[in-house]
Amino acid sequence: MSHALRLGVNIDHVATIRNARGGDHPDPVRAAFAAAEAGADGITAHLREDRRHITDADIDRLMARLDIPLNLEMAATEEMLEIALRHRPHAACLVPEKREERTTEGGLDAAGQHNHLAYYVDKLGAANIRVSLFVEPDPAQIEAAIRLGAPVVEFHTGRYAHLEGEARAVELRRLADAAALAAKNGIEPHAGHGLSFDNVQAVAAIPQLRELNIGHFLVGEAIFTGLDASVRRMRELMDEAWG
Ligand code: PXP
Repeated sequence: MSHALRLGVNIDHVATIRNARGGDHPDPVRAAFAAAEAGADGITAHLREDRRHITDADIDRLMARLDIPLNLEMAATEEMLEIALRHRPHAACLVPEKREERTTEGGLDAAGQHNHLAYYVDKLGAANIRVSLFVEPDPAQIEAAIRLGAPVVEFHTGRYAHLEGEARAVELRRLADAAALAAKNGIEPHAGHGLSFDNVQAVAAIPQLRELNIGHFLVGEAIFTGLDASVRRMRELMDEAWG
């Protein structure tokens, strides 16, 4: 089933646990299948330059076996571009890995990095890969995404997740305004980072958002309830909030 607000399950931290022992258990590809079975609309995996969690072999297996869309998170580098063009995943989300690539708050500095990013956005787009930019919910970053011709932006919800009280409400309004601005300009808004059962509903209720990417909390919660139950519960909370 395809939902109006899609859930992308990020399986990076299944690989983190696997790599802690250097073997092949728990297998992130098995987690991807379990997440799909539990209602995930897509799978997200970040192939980091240092390969600290997801490996090249994981991406090979996900591309060969997964029958829901893969969103490949990647740095804007030649190495990652070559891998993305070889695999042609459904989507590629450009994320910062180095300090100079990010804004003070943590998203990609799409405004400051225009010339660098333009090449990657164009190459990925020409290969029919849906490009998204992981940015702060900030008008300057959305304007940069418009200039770059990115079809999707993913708003960084890390600040929202960590704040409390009125400060969180202010950040939520910033997310809602950013989603509205992106949608008005024909860019599909997504969101993610730090989302949990406790904080997802206010974000899921933002009407323009089309996808949430959630990983660390779901994998952590799976320790207590299993991945199936944690993904199903997240899906239920999103559906309730979205109406
Ligand atoms: N979206 C992006 C672009 C990410 O890099 C990550 C992982 O850091 C997430 C979403 C998921 O965040 P979390 O693991 O905190 O749910």
